[in-house]
Amino acid sequence: MSLFSFLLLLLLPFLSLSFSQTPPKGFLIDCGATAGSEINGLQWIPDTQFISTGTPRNLTIPGLVPTLSTVRSFPRQGKKNCYVVQVYRGARYMVRTTYYYGGINGPDFPSPPVFDQIVDGTLWSVVNTTDDYARGLSTYYEGVFLAQGKTMSLCIGSNTYTESDPFISALEFVILADSLYNTTDFNRFGLSLVRRDSFGYSGPTIRYPDDQFDRFWEPFGQSNSANASSNNVSVSGFWNLPPLKMFETQIGSDQLESLELRWPQASLPKSKYYIALYFADSSGSSRRIFNVSLNGVTYYRELNVTASGVVVFASQWPLSGPTTITLTPAASSSRGPLINAGEIFEVLSLGGRTSTRDVIALERIKEGLQNPPLDWNGDPCMPRQYSWTGITCSEGPRIRVVTLNLTSMNLSGSLSPYVANMTALTNIWLGNNTFSGQIPDLSSLKMLETLHLEDNQFSGEIPSSLGNISTLREVFLQNNNLTGQVPTNLVGKTGLNLRISGNNLVSPPLAS
Ligand SMILES: *[C@@H]1O[C@H](CO)[C@@H](O)[C@H](O)[C@H]1NC(C)=O
Ligand SMILES: *[C@@H]1O[C@H](CO)[C@@H](O)[C@H](O)[C@H]1NC(C)=O
Ligand SMILES: *[C@@H]1O[C@H](CO)[C@@H](O)[C@H](O)[C@H]1NC(C)=O
Ligand SMILES: *[C@@H]1O[C@H](CO)[C@@H](O)[C@H](O)[C@H]1NC(C)=O
Ligand SMILES: *[C@@H]1O[C@H](CO)[C@@H](O)[C@H](O)[C@H]1NC(C)=O
Ligand SMILES: *[C@@H]1O[C@H](CO)[C@@H](O)[C@H](O)[C@H]1NC(C)=O
Ligand SMILES: *[C@@H]1O[C@H](CO)[C@@H](O)[C@H](O)[C@H]1NC(C)=O
Ligand SMILES: *[C@@H]1O[C@H](CO)[C@@H](O)[C@H](O)[C@H]1NC(C)=O
Ligand SMILES: *[C@@H]1O[C@H](CO)[C@@H](O)[C@H](O)[C@H]1NC(C)=O
Ligand SMILES: *[C@@H]1O[C@H](CO)[C@@H](O)[C@H](O)[C@H]1NC(C)=O
Ligand SMILES: *[C@@H]1O[C@H](CO)[C@@H](O)[C@H](O)[C@H]1NC(C)=O
Ligand SMILES: *[C@@H]1O[C@H](CO)[C@@H](O)[C@H](O)[C@H]1NC(C)=O
Repeated sequence: MSLFSFLLLLLLPFLSLSFSQTPPKGFLIDCGATAGSEINGLQWIPDTQFISTGTPRNLTIPGLVPTLSTVRSFPRQGKKNCYVVQVYRGARYMVRTTYYYGGINGPDFPSPPVFDQIVDGTLWSVVNTTDDYARGLSTYYEGVFLAQGKTMSLCIGSNTYTESDPFISALEFVILADSLYNTTDFNRFGLSLVRRDSFGYSGPTIRYPDDQFDRFWEPFGQSNSANASSNNVSVSGFWNLPPLKMFETQIGSDQLESLELRWPQASLPKSKYYIALYFADSSGSSRRIFNVSLNGVTYYRELNVTASGVVVFASQWPLSGPTTITLTPAASSSRGPLINAGEIFEVLSLGGRTSTRDVIALERIKEGLQNPPLDWNGDPCMPRQYSWTGITCSEGPRIRVVTLNLTSMNLSGSLSPYVANMTALTNIWLGNNTFSGQIPDLSSLKMLETLHLEDNQFSGEIPSSLGNISTLREVFLQNNNLTGQVPTNLVGKTGLNLRISGNNLVSPPLAS
């Protein structure tokens, strides 16, 4: 059987507990808020330093926690709106988004809008909070992603199914320890949480300070055996550093019989999943040995569960539809099986990122514009259906910008010389705007075929280096404020369509 899975068993030595109470590191962002707040010992900050688009809105529903009482709302036409945060390159971040609609789009839209959320260049998921909202609940999404650069972005995208303005209530970027989920190749994959449950537990969600990263462990199922003490379980030996508290409850059986658990309860889309199951038996001298299987496929055989605890995990296990975990006691077992907790994430293939060289150049071009297009945020090319207005990109593993087309967009400002770093450009079309200043040296653009700067207010001389670009077919410079000589190497160039009328040039304009 080829399941592309990876199994590991970790038996823990008895170690003394070192329980960390320091709050998680990162950013806890209260979207739409004007002031910070403290909730359960954690500091939340307003979102204004991370985003420049959208509108802060207050919900008028009384009694909401501060993170839910404000949202940032985005115009539905806005395509993509991004939060950009400074991160440590190479660190792994838990990214958590929270949504509570609260009827902010008015009585015409009693149901929350459905839209997309995007991490860097990857379409993370559709945000559909309809069911939770109908039950009076907020909705959260959690994922684990590598910081591949100095910033990470989380974007809200309007899609065809978005019927009213999308919004976000809260956004968290929390640094995880390097050992967490570390069998995942985070350069190629991200993890999107499906469920993280503490079995046989019925109290409030287990989180910070029990979980040092403030991951949420939800109550799941009825406890059918006595509550255990977690005193003998050592969390520090588990790579995923689960909270001790979840070892206090379990679903289990004292009889020598198999235990079947429908978990997670929702039917799963066909995909690959990271699954970690946690077990500890603090009841003493008994032997608990059992097989663990998922949908009838053996996941781990003859698992020996002792007081020190054990985790069994698979990095990429294919699943679809309903999932059943079966724990079958081995002949040598003296007690029935038990299970304390489980985590399951969908494994997402990362979408790729625009070449850094082009990203930096586009940021500079954006800085040169007085009114850049509103969706110029996040990754310029990816995901492809969310590329920036006016940008066309290459296919393939190295993602480059090939066309910059801002024709007739009522833009003003200057054209940054950094455009010359975008060496894959074949077309630059900026016609019919109010660009001013000089035309930068573009001679490094060896693939440039068309340059349309007509109907602007470019001034200064036409750079003679344009004549050195052998691929150029069209140079449209008419109706600007250009002065000086027309470079001779342009005038005589064969196969070049050159338009220069409507300027203050010295040599007689060519017919065009
Ligand atoms: C939301 O409420 C805060 C605090 O009461 C207030 O300062 C802010 O102006 C309100 N914002 C809006 C958009 O009404
Ligand atoms: C959102 O979820 C609701 C309830 O599950 C479903 O009826 C609806 O079709 C979903 N909307 C979209 C666009 O997927
Ligand atoms: C994961 O982290 C643990 C603990 O730091 C380490 O022993 C192990 O080698 C790491 N595994 C991988 C695949 O990096
Ligand atoms: C076990 O713990 C849960 C939650 O902490 C509690 O609701 C339940 O009553 C306990 N069960 C027993 C048998 O003590
Ligand atoms: C668990 O710890 C308690 C006290 O710390 C001890 O009495 C008990 O024997 C331990 N149980 C096992 C199975 O090690
Ligand atoms: C199970 O693990 C315990 C503790 O490591 C060990 O003493 C015992 O021999 C193991 N039992 C089996 C059947 O492997
Ligand atoms: C446990 O799994 C192994 C390998 O799949 C199988 O040979 C064995 O019979 C199973 N034991 C039980 C008790 O199901
Ligand atoms: C640029 O955009 C304009 C207007 O949208 C369009 O007419 C033109 O064909 C585009 N040029 C290129 C090279 O895509
Ligand atoms: C163009 O932008 C200016 C401000 O930059 C604005 O006043 C004007 O209304 C805009 N014109 C159109 C047609 O959008
Ligand atoms: C120039 O751009 C404006 C928008 O800024 C547009 O209304 C107008 O039609 C454009 N003119 C031409 C000739 O395309
Ligand atoms: C990008 O352009 C700037 C300004 O023209 C230049 O200083 C810099 O060296 C260029 N960087 C690269 C990587 O070409
Ligand atoms: C461009 O030239 C026109 C007419 O010659 C003048 O009115 C305008 O101020 C100039 N614009 C710039 C940006 O130099």
